[in-house]
Amino acid sequence: MTALRVPGDKSIAHRAVMFAALAEGTSRIGNVPDGLDVRSTQSAMRALGAVMGRDDAGVLVVEGRAGAFASPAGAIDCGNSGTTMRLLAGLLATRAIDVTLTGDASLQSRPMRRVAGPLAAFGARIDLSGTGTAPMRVRGNPHAQGADVAVTVASAQVKSALLLAALGAHGRTQLSGELATRDHTERLLRSFGVAVDSNGGRLAINGPAALRATDLDVPGDISSAAFLFAAAAAVPGASVTVDDVGLNPTRSAFLDVLRRFGASVEIAPKAGGAEPRGSVTVRGAPLSGIAIEPAEVPGLIDELPLVGVLGGFARGTTTVRGAGELRVKESDRIEAFAAAARALGIAVETAPDGFAVHGPAQWHDGDVVTHHDHRIAMAFSVAARAAGVRIRLDDPDCAAVSFPGFAAALEAAL
Ligand code: S3P
Repeated sequence: MTALRVPGDKSIAHRAVMFAALAEGTSRIGNVPDGLDVRSTQSAMRALGAVMGRDDAGVLVVEGRAGAFASPAGAIDCGNSGTTMRLLAGLLATRAIDVTLTGDASLQSRPMRRVAGPLAAFGARIDLSGTGTAPMRVRGNPHAQGADVAVTVASAQVKSALLLAALGAHGRTQLSGELATRDHTERLLRSFGVAVDSNGGRLAINGPAALRATDLDVPGDISSAAFLFAAAAAVPGASVTVDDVGLNPTRSAFLDVLRRFGASVEIAPKAGGAEPRGSVTVRGAPLSGIAIEPAEVPGLIDELPLVGVLGGFARGTTTVRGAGELRVKESDRIEAFAAAARALGIAVETAPDGFAVHGPAQWHDGDVVTHHDHRIAMAFSVAARAAGVRIRLDDPDCAAVSFPGFAAALEAAL
């Protein structure tokens, strides 16, 4: 079977676009995905003054502003993208900018105190709604001093917002606490010439830090490839290969999870680059239920709906614990998962911080309410295809947030 490719990694692309816009000089970024979330970041950086566009080969060419952003006339719309809003809040918190960040109904219901609170350490003024949500008005403090901040939520978005604020602050910023989340910000800042010290479980940056333009190529998104891997894993005898997919160890825990379920996973790493990448082949097999423990959750956060779906194909019980963060994603992914699972015949129980699935499911056709959440829509499209049942999604188009072309890719995979 021919190898597939998936769109470029969304997490990496958001950061690459922001850092290129912040850098001095022209950066060229290959394989920027065309999903709506990364488009939100591109238009936000344009609103602040950066100039960017794709060349004939599709490479995104970004003329950086060397940090000299101007306050836009109107609000910046971050669409559905939590990463755009939270990272931007950090980036602007230590600059002479006054701007309001808004988003769609889902984004405007997500918690923003987790960034607004710690960013106060830099003297930024950040106004939220009474319930701690966007619209978020950020009035940055260009005279900010470096600060020691403890990160209390295991969220790469919170950690990254603070690192981006540190770039504009005067003196040393040191972060401690919950830092064991995806490390794309740390890796990419180094690619843009910023010294990010990591030792003794802490992260530190000396500001103000200037970014140097660079060229880079975004690997395929492992969180998108995960849908194709899960489809193959669920069907004994099926197999799928995805080439040039990101293999950053803070993102690849799902591959180990597939093995624990009983699928076969072969990895062929490719040399070079700030972000590990390679080719991955997954082969399906009869699956058995597994337990995901709280310490594993940050490395799997976006794949947990798929873990639940695979639980429907596995013999025995599959449990996820310590994943209360799922309740504040693009939807409440515990309730959205459970309702959709039941609609297709999966037996599921929910808890405040996770769920248990008793497999194998009694599969049948069903209607799935996506809550406009791309990962719910794709996880249950995989379930239906692998189980051979029919699914009606209320919003099949929402996959375009992260994976334009998902339906065709799933068809090619299985
Ligand atoms: C992301 C971090 C994760 C993840 C999201 C992207 C990022 O969110 O769920 O899809 O790019 O930093 P949290 O930081 O809220 O865990």
